[in-house]
Amino acid sequence: MRTDPHSCFDDQQPRISRLHLRLLVDFDQRILAGEATLLFTPPAAGVLDLDTRGLAIHQVRVSATGAELPFELGPDEPILGRRLRLELPAATHGITLAYETSPDAAGLQWLEPAQTEGGRRPFLFSQCQAIHARTLVPCQDSPAVRFGYDAEVVVPEGLTAVMSAGPMGDGPGPVPGTRAFHFRMPQPIPSYLLALAVGELESRELSPRSRVWAEPAVVERAAWEFAEVETLIATAEQLFGPYDWERYDLLVLPWSFPYGGMENPRMTFLTPTLLAGDRSLVDVVAHELAHSWTGNLVSNATAEHFWLNEGFTVWAERRILRALQGEEACALAWAVGQKELEESLERFRDRPELTLLRTRLDGVDPDDAFSSIPYEKGARLVAALERAVGEPAFHGFLQAYMRRFRFSSITTEQFCAFTEEQFPGLLARVDAEAWLHQPGLPADAPDFRSPRLDRITGLAAAFGQGARPGAADLEAWGVTELLVFLQNLPRPLDLEACAWLDSGLQLTGRGNCEILVAWLELALVSGYGAVRERVGELLSRVGRMKYLRPLYLALGRDAAGRALARDLFRQAGPGYHGLARRAVQGILDGYEQ
Ligand code: BES
Ligand code: ZN
Repeated sequence: MRTDPHSCFDDQQPRISRLHLRLLVDFDQRILAGEATLLFTPPAAGVLDLDTRGLAIHQVRVSATGAELPFELGPDEPILGRRLRLELPAATHGITLAYETSPDAAGLQWLEPAQTEGGRRPFLFSQCQAIHARTLVPCQDSPAVRFGYDAEVVVPEGLTAVMSAGPMGDGPGPVPGTRAFHFRMPQPIPSYLLALAVGELESRELSPRSRVWAEPAVVERAAWEFAEVETLIATAEQLFGPYDWERYDLLVLPWSFPYGGMENPRMTFLTPTLLAGDRSLVDVVAHELAHSWTGNLVSNATAEHFWLNEGFTVWAERRILRALQGEEACALAWAVGQKELEESLERFRDRPELTLLRTRLDGVDPDDAFSSIPYEKGARLVAALERAVGEPAFHGFLQAYMRRFRFSSITTEQFCAFTEEQFPGLLARVDAEAWLHQPGLPADAPDFRSPRLDRITGLAAAFGQGARPGAADLEAWGVTELLVFLQNLPRPLDLEACAWLDSGLQLTGRGNCEILVAWLELALVSGYGAVRERVGELLSRVGRMKYLRPLYLALGRDAAGRALARDLFRQAGPGYHGLARRAVQGILDGYEQ
């Protein structure tokens, strides 16, 4: 039976247990070319369906004998790609597929030297979640299937390859001018956690089990920004139990990385926008680290259960934050999330089915269903469960949850069955039915208040009536306080108010993207034209979708903004990641209506 609307994986068929990759990274042709060997333990037989998208399959052989196997590629489906069907002979230990990727593989971005910090060498990175691993490797591209992997990656001399795996050394490549990097991932992972990056990279040690990788020009700044990572790991271990992946390394990517972070095991991928110079954005690292448990140890069985990954992880990220920075900082983080949640609920007003936690995504591209809802609504459900049983009991529940489901992939229904078993009646008590299966946010959702938060939202509301926060408040504020203030200001503001904010708080000149983007959006929707040049600068450089979306939307407010947006997109669009390009194109298309 097929169990995942986004994969042709069939649970009656053999499952891949390990993967061996041998790949040549060809920057000239923008392809990965080589071999994937899929291993089966125990040895398997019969029909095997694999996911592929844009892959050219040259040949399939039985690994042990070299006997060639016929294969059949199905029609190219818009979201899913092409099914690759094979018939394994009796007792097959492994099959080897010779193949290459397509230059426009959705899971890869190939960067010109000019798009990197150093400007001298090209760069490549992957982003496989949710269903792009199939554009890199033929595989069962459903998180229901887990496999470990080994890889040999051959890159041009002078470049370094990193993967979501342990490094096993490097040496001269098969042809002069190349170098081969070896990796081994012992633990079984879902395909969406396969990851590769290649570029001019250096690293700095942060702790005995952690280092940060980045281009030489940013590695020192990165090491400073993330210096406290060991404290994060230790705090997360108290919450969830021991860290099971040996190392926790970080990679800072070039500007076009479309997300804030991606929890690739052993090697979290991060946007350079986190390098704010004030350590104020490490909550993203706390989040990706927390996925080492919720997501990478216990994974969603399909994208329809994405809230199990993200809701738990946002909740965990805020528990880590509370342990390190206290109750007030934590309440502010929930308030920032609340605004993001409201924005997503508004965006999906006409698609309420995407505001459920347990979604139905048959025929829906997971990238189109992406929003803050599984994150923030999901985290609030976890908080509601915790409040209902109390913190000590919930802590025990989490430990039991990890023990039961570690290294497996589960559905919402399995989660509910386990919760019912641990705490009979709890789901009914928090009305889990409404959280999981009804749109919007339940009326009795937990809210997170604190004196500092109330003070800031009070000042923001009064601002609309002409009151201005005093110097004492402004000086006491850190990044998150200011962000909450900006998010809660009435909009649009009049131009005098915009000018007051801009000069009083030096907003247009900020380098911290969270503050800068919140301000630029507010200024654009208020018609404060003085920010346009800065908006242009930002949109030409940054490819993180979280920042592109609100700014391109805000530019849609008037004809001049729309013209600027089209102009900027024409120039900057080719440098964006494919996902970001598609998201922005969608926004520009929406202008006309
Ligand atoms: N796993 C996600 C990123 C993702 C989700 C990529 C779905 C592709 C498909 C990652 O853990 C994440 O949530 N990143 C956030 C961080 C934030 C919530 C702290 C981001 O990128 O902004
Ligand atoms: Zn996440």
